[in-house]
Amino acid sequence: MAVTVLGSIHIDLYIKVDRLPEIGETIVGSGFTILPGGKGANQAVGCGRLGEETYMIGRIGMEFSDLILRNFRDNKVITDSIIIDEHYPTGVAFIILHEKTKENMIIIDPGAGKRISNLDIDRADNEIDSSKIVLLQLEIPLEANLYMCKKAKFKGKTVILNPAPARILPEDMFHYIDIITPNRVETYQLTGVAVKDLSTAKEAGERLIQKGVNTVIITLGSYGSVLVTASGALYYPAFSVEVIDTTGAGDAFNAGLAVALSRGMDIEEALVWANAAAALKLTKLGAQTGLPYLDELLDFLKKHSKYKGKTI
Ligand code: RIB
Repeated sequence: MAVTVLGSIHIDLYIKVDRLPEIGETIVGSGFTILPGGKGANQAVGCGRLGEETYMIGRIGMEFSDLILRNFRDNKVITDSIIIDEHYPTGVAFIILHEKTKENMIIIDPGAGKRISNLDIDRADNEIDSSKIVLLQLEIPLEANLYMCKKAKFKGKTVILNPAPARILPEDMFHYIDIITPNRVETYQLTGVAVKDLSTAKEAGERLIQKGVNTVIITLGSYGSVLVTASGALYYPAFSVEVIDTTGAGDAFNAGLAVALSRGMDIEEALVWANAAAALKLTKLGAQTGLPYLDELLDFLKKHSKYKGKTI
């Protein structure tokens, strides 16, 4: 089957620092790079690299449009539903990567992504029809995301929402989401539960299920992830890898999850793919340039064939 991704497409402006500046201070960074990014685009490229037929719906401006479209095609992402908006610029992200901790700070201006409309989504009906999975994030207008959730659910698709960056969602939206994948901050925003350990992760997951979501996956960075469904909760520890850059690890996770489900795996097996894809991303620089390919993932999984979730 296939995956349709609706979401942001950015140009990422990366710079490395060994400490963060104080207010009003100028510091010297290094390694400035311009790379393709945006959570939506990263997740689509992640699916394409893992060998799944992938459709991207989004908007960019004229700037960098050739580079962005060529990059999608090089990564086997179908671009027919990407609109080039003549009136708004391509979205950008300023990414500051801390050299020691490998953590990042990101500021985005979604640019043309702010103009994604319900009509853009209607124009992609054929792509949605051909897909098993519809994958969403929150860097584009909420109205468009809600519209897509309803449409995809009506068409019988599996809707995955990666609720990043953290935003408050309309209560009715939860009923149209099959799988939600918040991190700790997003989980707090959505439930009011501060995730401090596995039992609070389980509690937060149960709250989201009460709101109408079928399956909750809470990502916990270097601790791994927690799967919560109506039948119980499982903990998946993070794989131990040498971390180069944490940027885009969540995007790799969601792409791995979507591809595994699109290939017909059950949710527990799909979590193994998601965690493995995120681990491989951590070992490389760049939110999108560091996303793994299918052969790397399969190789990694062979080396970790005993890995599975543990009941909480
Ligand atoms: O998840 C990482 C992404 O977040 C970056 O590529 C950046 O563009 C922001 O959208």
